[in-house]
Amino acid sequence: MQFNYHNKLYFQLATQLAELVSQKFDTQVEIGDLYKLFVLPPNPKQGDLAFGCFILAKQLKQAPPAIAQALAQDFKSDLVKSSQAAGPYLNFFLNPETCNQLILDEILSGEAFKKEIIKEAPKTIIEYSQPNTHKELHVGHMRNLCYGNALVRLYRYCGVDTIATTFPGDMGTHVAKCLWYYKKHNTQTPPENRKGAWLGTLYTAANNLLEEQRGSDKEETNRQELTAILHELLAEKGEYFELWKETREWSIELMQSVYDWADVKFDRWFFESEMDAPSLKICQEYYEKGLLVKDQGAIGMNLEDDKLGFCILIKSDGTGLYSTKDVALAKKKFEEFGVEKNIYIVDSRQAFHFKQVFKVLEKIGFSQAKDCYHMPYEMVELTDGAMSSRKGNIIALSDLVNQMENKIKSDYLEKYRGDWSDEDIEKTAHMIANGAIKYGMVRMDNNRKIVFDMNEWLKLDGETGPYLQYVCARISSLINKSGQPSD
Ligand code: ARG
Repeated sequence: MQFNYHNKLYFQLATQLAELVSQKFDTQVEIGDLYKLFVLPPNPKQGDLAFGCFILAKQLKQAPPAIAQALAQDFKSDLVKSSQAAGPYLNFFLNPETCNQLILDEILSGEAFKKEIIKEAPKTIIEYSQPNTHKELHVGHMRNLCYGNALVRLYRYCGVDTIATTFPGDMGTHVAKCLWYYKKHNTQTPPENRKGAWLGTLYTAANNLLEEQRGSDKEETNRQELTAILHELLAEKGEYFELWKETREWSIELMQSVYDWADVKFDRWFFESEMDAPSLKICQEYYEKGLLVKDQGAIGMNLEDDKLGFCILIKSDGTGLYSTKDVALAKKKFEEFGVEKNIYIVDSRQAFHFKQVFKVLEKIGFSQAKDCYHMPYEMVELTDGAMSSRKGNIIALSDLVNQMENKIKSDYLEKYRGDWSDEDIEKTAHMIANGAIKYGMVRMDNNRKIVFDMNEWLKLDGETGPYLQYVCARISSLINKSGQPSD
């Protein structure tokens, strides 16, 4: 029997046995003190539990081994199959039937796994899955999504009031590049469905073209065109701004479809575009208060004493940066939700960025800067190397999901067609693909790279989601057969 000093079953058994010892000798010793004399024998062959008779020696005026002998003689209890004296100890061999019933009762009451994991539970905001619009979503994005979703669920399971947010990057050079290509070079008409994924392919095409024309006489024109687009977007008017509004929705739709597929919900979507103007305003105010300095036309904070360089917040042309938005966003999160803890799940390449942002917040006197945490994680690679949506060597998420679900159907589910409805087959394929990706993504330490390998992740044995689902299904089936309620 496997149990230890910390589990409830041990407590229950040792207390009941302590009561029996107490009744047998009619001692004055407190049950609590008798309980403390129970130990786990070093070798299970000696027994499941042992009672050291020392404390009784004085009162009974007998040597402990004699007491052990006396106790062993007719120790009767449903819990005990047999007992044996061994020196000053009385070793108990427990009765598996009664003990198993106790274990089952505890599990079925739902108490067995209720452990206090988090003692203090400050209201927490967790930001995760912050893909950029106008780019394709790929399997790498799934690591962040699965990791963040697991954390949110874990926090909520532990009773922590948790707000889940996302922060898509819907502004910036990547958007300008995509729209530039769309207007000036694209010849295709947007497809009926999955426009967001198509838009992502334009972003890749834009990069390829810009790369190709680098060093040619087109380079300078391209640069000027991109700058003009960015200005139009910031000014919020003009044809590019209109196109931005329309295409941004396509990307958001794509994100939403992935979130639906993965059963992920956010309480609040923050957008980079939403933070642009307010963040510039806040930083301008800090500058006027003397909290920021001007250096070569740019406004920012010198963090050299903290080995974090100079953090620019307003460029000399008056525009903001990524850090500018994060300074404002951090404050907004605390204010909007009254949280006490602010967690960002963002890949480890951004560790320096967050160090800078948190330091700036601390130095401008934002007391909750200490409650901001960056939880980094490493990249996902394919079996043949790293992915980059800029270069286009990615597995688009929608293709991946289709490939996985098709493989699951052909390898595992086709044989049930006819017995099962088509709808059940689809549903099951979705559940297995979901489990495979989610488990594959969170099973690895977050500071280690993951190599995504669909065939490995879909295996029915070993460290895979499908294996866990199989075990879970088997256990449910056993519970059903036992006639116990299965919830
Ligand atoms: N959209 C950004 C990127 O793709 C990540 C945003 C992370 N969150 C934040 N608050 N900075 O790199």
